[in-house]
Amino acid sequence: MYIGLTHFHSYWAYVAFLLLLVAIINSFIGLSGRREFKPKDRKIAVFGLAAAHVQGLLGLVLYLVAPYIRLLASDPGAVMSNAPTRLLAIEHPLMNIIALILITVGFSRHKKLATSSAKFKSIGIFYLIGVVLILSRIPWANWL
Ligand code: HEM
Ligand code: HEM
Repeated sequence: MYIGLTHFHSYWAYVAFLLLLVAIINSFIGLSGRREFKPKDRKIAVFGLAAAHVQGLLGLVLYLVAPYIRLLASDPGAVMSNAPTRLLAIEHPLMNIIALILITVGFSRHKKLATSSAKFKSIGIFYLIGVVLILSRIPWANWL
């Protein structure tokens, strides 16, 4: 179950990145072309959001069954003083939760904004900051 979940979380990361990038690029193209924000643009943003949420939920489940969490409770010093375990147990989960909140806020904001350019900007900028934060704390060595 644990190994299967890490594989799913590892492969789904490609889907999430791809759909988030499509949403970011679509937003900046829409913004620079001064296009009207259409239902198609909302759909593209929803796909990125949903893929990111699935990834985050997988990560949360993974965290509950991962061996690091048990080690964190019994010997926090050992986890914190070792960069690779600190990345997996603390930095990656915390940073990604912050990134997912920003991505969700970007989507949420666009619904309340009145102009097309403001909607594109909210999605484009918040999703971009989210992706940069996620990329800053990827356990590259473990990524399949
Ligand atoms: C959109 C956000 C996320 C992305 C793109 C992402 C991506 C990845 C990648 C590429 C790996 C390395 C593959 C692997 O170790 O099998 C990984 C590992 C891991 N992620 Fe995430 N992750 C995200 C969010 C989260 C969240 C929110 C949590 C926990 C709350 C989390 C928990 C973990 C854990 C525990 C591992 C280590 C799994 C192992 O034992 O190898 N991830 N993540
Ligand atoms: C399998 C898991 C998930 C899927 C497929 C998913 C999918 C989605 C989708 C499609 C939306 C956009 C709805 C719309 O069209 O307005 C959304 C919104 C949202 N999701 Fe998720 N989600 C998942 C898990 C989660 C989790 C675990 C959380 C929180 C811990 C969460 C928090 C939110 C919030 C706060 C919004 C509202 C954004 C807004 O419209 O203002 N989601 N999700």
